[in-house]
Amino acid sequence: MKTYIVEGGRKLEGSTYVSGSKNASLPIIAASILNGGITKLYNVPNIHDTKIMLKILEYLGCKTKRNNGKIVIDSKNIKLHEIPEELMREMRSSVIIVGALLGRLKQATFSYPGGCDIGSRPIDLHLKAFEKLGVELEEESGFIRCKSDNIIGTQIQLDFPSVGATENIMLASILAKGETVIANAAMEPEIVDLQNFLNKMGANIKGAGTNNITINGVTKLKDVSYNIMPDRIEAGTLLCAVALTGGKLELKNVVPEHLTPVIHKLEECGCIIKIEKDTLYLQAPKKLKATDIKTMPYPGFPTDMQSIFASMLSTAKGTSIIVENIFENRYKYVTELNRMGAKITIEGRTAVIKGVRKLSGANVKATDLRGGAALILAGLVAKGKTTIMNIEYILRGYENIEKKLRNLGAKIILKEGE
Ligand code: EPZ
Repeated sequence: MKTYIVEGGRKLEGSTYVSGSKNASLPIIAASILNGGITKLYNVPNIHDTKIMLKILEYLGCKTKRNNGKIVIDSKNIKLHEIPEELMREMRSSVIIVGALLGRLKQATFSYPGGCDIGSRPIDLHLKAFEKLGVELEEESGFIRCKSDNIIGTQIQLDFPSVGATENIMLASILAKGETVIANAAMEPEIVDLQNFLNKMGANIKGAGTNNITINGVTKLKDVSYNIMPDRIEAGTLLCAVALTGGKLELKNVVPEHLTPVIHKLEECGCIIKIEKDTLYLQAPKKLKATDIKTMPYPGFPTDMQSIFASMLSTAKGTSIIVENIFENRYKYVTELNRMGAKITIEGRTAVIKGVRKLSGANVKATDLRGGAALILAGLVAKGKTTIMNIEYILRGYENIEKKLRNLGAKIILKEGE
């Protein structure tokens, strides 16, 4: 089992960059199934989840080549439409392959996806949308068989602006007959990246970034090359890591408008932030001030930053209140933070964080991807040594995070397991 060892107490200062977005890469890699040709992707983060997504594509018959951030996918010979259970269980976003298979082959068989344990994470909105598009669903011993003679464009009203359901509808309908309109669509930047990618492939989609997306079915798609947008959650994580230690950061390769709610909250905590095109400059105060957070769908405060802010606020001056409105079980990391001396109490979806003077190093366990990142941040300011176990969760979504933090002065090493 791999672990991170972190020595706390050092101020982080310097310059680093943001890698490509995990949550933009995953649906775009899945979408490469649709053109039955060549897809070249640049700036893809080299993390566990993108590796698994490529493994699923290879299982289905695609040929893939990877050279660091560059990936080439040849989806000419897709032979299978069934995604094996063990691969489905590896991560939540495997469900996005279903929309791509329906778009390309009009059939798909899969089991319920896995992913971080931050809530039940149902896929009812995905399945309801597929049925509205004319897909027949049959559920049997944990598998769902989807089949359609013709996918017909239609009006789909989402009960909740689900990111994954919005992406899945886009993939399933770009080769459909007629027009599909998604009402109450998710507005996350990753959806805009997916639209830009698909339109470069020859699709006809408008409205991504708003709550109303229109897809006009086309008959032909072509080879495509595309550069993945920067990861706004990694950017937020690095900003918080420096803010927490009272340091100074030049952060390159960001899209500032993707970070507006995060920047606004960091300024409320006393940070001074300057923006120059695709670079952010942060100067932290000696001691952060408490603030209140409510997670919301984009453009509200991102749920993926919730645990990272909780960690940062655990040593701020005053009491902070966080309300998690997206996932019903996204506080599992709190027990581990309290083991380090944090004073966080949970009441339902609300976390009350009483700022403490100091955290102390301890042996802690990552409970999920972003909860694990929160523990790294706590280790950066804790007195003494923190050992973080189960870091496979963290390696799912952060490319070389320990190297980036070390370059900023952190004392953190990745220890290979016994
Ligand atoms: C995406 O997950 C992201 N993952 C998540 O990031 C992110 O937290 C989430 O969007 C919200 O922004 C990827 O893009 C790979 P949702 P997704 O469908 O698509 C409920 C990370 O740390 N819901 O918008 O699974 C669901 O239970 C990950 O990088 C249904 O009820 O999120 C949740 O409460 C974690 N039925 C809420 O909607 C459905 O059919 C938001 O889910 C679908 C979702």
